[in-house]
Amino acid sequence: MCGIFGYLGNEDAVPILLEGLRTLEYRGYDSAGIFVPGYGAVKSAGQIVNLEKKLDKDIKGKSGIAHTRWATHGVPSEKNAHPHHDMSGQLWLVHNGIIENFRELKEGLLVQGIKFYSDTDTEVLIKLIGSFYSGDLLQATKLALKAVRGTYGLAVMSETEPDKIVVARMGSPIVLGIGKDGNFISSDPSALLIHTKNVVFLDDGEVAVVKKDSYEITTIEGVKKEKKSERIEWSHEAVQKNGYEHFMLKEIFEAPEVIENTLRGRLKLDTGEAKLGGLEAITHRLKNIQRLYIVGCGSAYYAGQVGRYMLEEYARLPVEVELGSEYRYKKAYPDKRALALFVSQSGETADTRASLEKAKELGLTTVGMVNVVGSAISREVDAGIYNYAGPEVAVASTKAFLSQLTAFALLTLFLGRERGMTQVEGIEIVRALHKLPETIKKVLATSESIAKVAKKYAHCRDFMYIGRAFHSPIAYEGALKLKEVTYIHAEAYAGGELKHGPIAMLDKNFPVMALMPQDMVYEKMISNIEEIKARSAPIIALATEGDLRISSVADDVIYMPKVHPLLQPIISVIPLQLFAYYVGVEKGLNVDRPRNLAKSVTVE
Ligand code: F6R
Repeated sequence: MCGIFGYLGNEDAVPILLEGLRTLEYRGYDSAGIFVPGYGAVKSAGQIVNLEKKLDKDIKGKSGIAHTRWATHGVPSEKNAHPHHDMSGQLWLVHNGIIENFRELKEGLLVQGIKFYSDTDTEVLIKLIGSFYSGDLLQATKLALKAVRGTYGLAVMSETEPDKIVVARMGSPIVLGIGKDGNFISSDPSALLIHTKNVVFLDDGEVAVVKKDSYEITTIEGVKKEKKSERIEWSHEAVQKNGYEHFMLKEIFEAPEVIENTLRGRLKLDTGEAKLGGLEAITHRLKNIQRLYIVGCGSAYYAGQVGRYMLEEYARLPVEVELGSEYRYKKAYPDKRALALFVSQSGETADTRASLEKAKELGLTTVGMVNVVGSAISREVDAGIYNYAGPEVAVASTKAFLSQLTAFALLTLFLGRERGMTQVEGIEIVRALHKLPETIKKVLATSESIAKVAKKYAHCRDFMYIGRAFHSPIAYEGALKLKEVTYIHAEAYAGGELKHGPIAMLDKNFPVMALMPQDMVYEKMISNIEEIKARSAPIIALATEGDLRISSVADDVIYMPKVHPLLQPIISVIPLQLFAYYVGVEKGLNVDRPRNLAKSVTVE
């Protein structure tokens, strides 16, 4: 979604701001702009290179703010691109989020004779800030924000106070980067890594005045907040392609390392247990839980569905999985013996956050499974499990999904050992987890053969993915990947559901990806693919190495190693990620930044 970057220091601001915008590109955008005090703003529709071409070489300011916009109110155009200015042309604002009451606010401003030039809610906000301005940017911003309903992460500057950036957060992230020779602000910590790893995360309702050598945080009501900087351990290299053609491929190939990081220090080989330090704060409450609610959106939701199979089967814990966009509006009841777990790579997804708020209002104990350290969800829950997948740049989630499944396996072991899982069973799972990174290397080594299958099917208009039990949510995730990066219509069903309707669609032009490891539902899947074959639909089977029976039924087979059944979904999803990637590449699409999608969905 939109990106914000800002700088104050002793260097030339423009190259630093452009570099910041380039790092934010992956989030998706359709226009960009920069403001440097003394030189005004430059904006352009389309790519950042268009903005670069328009920038005058003589802009030599030492501070500024910049933005990549993803259109919500008003089409992508230069006119609607940020920064936006007030009536005097002195104050400039970049903003992520949505001002819900912008129409009412605009009417009030029109009555005062204020004129508008764009279709955006952001322009209304800066005009409002301008209407309160009498020489103190912080004060004017706070007064305006008191009148606003909606979400924002914002940065505002004044021509008359060029040594400061005022930033504020409500529902959309803002992070301060504390450098040696200057300070930075961004909506995404990964954009700060090249300059500094010392960061300060703003919380909702906070406003900060950032100068080149200081920062001061207060609430909108003016209560002072003392916040020390914290260190983020991500490296700048992690947000580079490092020789790979695309971030998506690089991130799929990072899987062994990602899983090692998710597991690091969390396995007890001798006792068959898992250690999850982030849950220590709620140990006493975990002992009595009788039900787990898992909430997430998109891939995080499917990870939760796999988690449900893991926890119900091996930890004997009843689980309900909910979409963030549904849970937040449905009837739910207080339950002292329930735990609510919120799964989110970014930790900023609006619907997941709203669901967390609701669970807290109901008095549920809340746990986060989050990748981005310091993100909103990670700060708002009672306890948490970090994924440690490192920054995920490609819009379609791959390595974070794998780390979520791995974290669910750890949670299963952790809770299972409290709930009747024997030490023998525990040790077996710990050993299997330990071997997982090596096994994944073997899967990745088959990428060329997966690319060949992908090439064969890249022309298809429709696809069906089926799986059962642990592999039913993996079918959904596989189909989601294909939809996202190839725009092919892909449906997913639990195998048993085919006969109840969707089989009617199948014909020779409608291939089926059948997920059929040799597990407890293998025979059922064989019956499924016999039925599919009878309808002449081509079949690609994802099957266990050594399964000779499958090749007589399926048109193409992708083989994968057999692992402990708890962990098989972690193995199976990788060929599906690679398949979607190679189909996207074969179609010549921008697999890292699919159309219409944003990396983190901070608005509803
Ligand atoms: C799919 C994908 C999305 C996200 C979803 C939730 O590839 O990336 O479906 O999984 O938007 O995002 P987070 O995990 O950041 O809450």
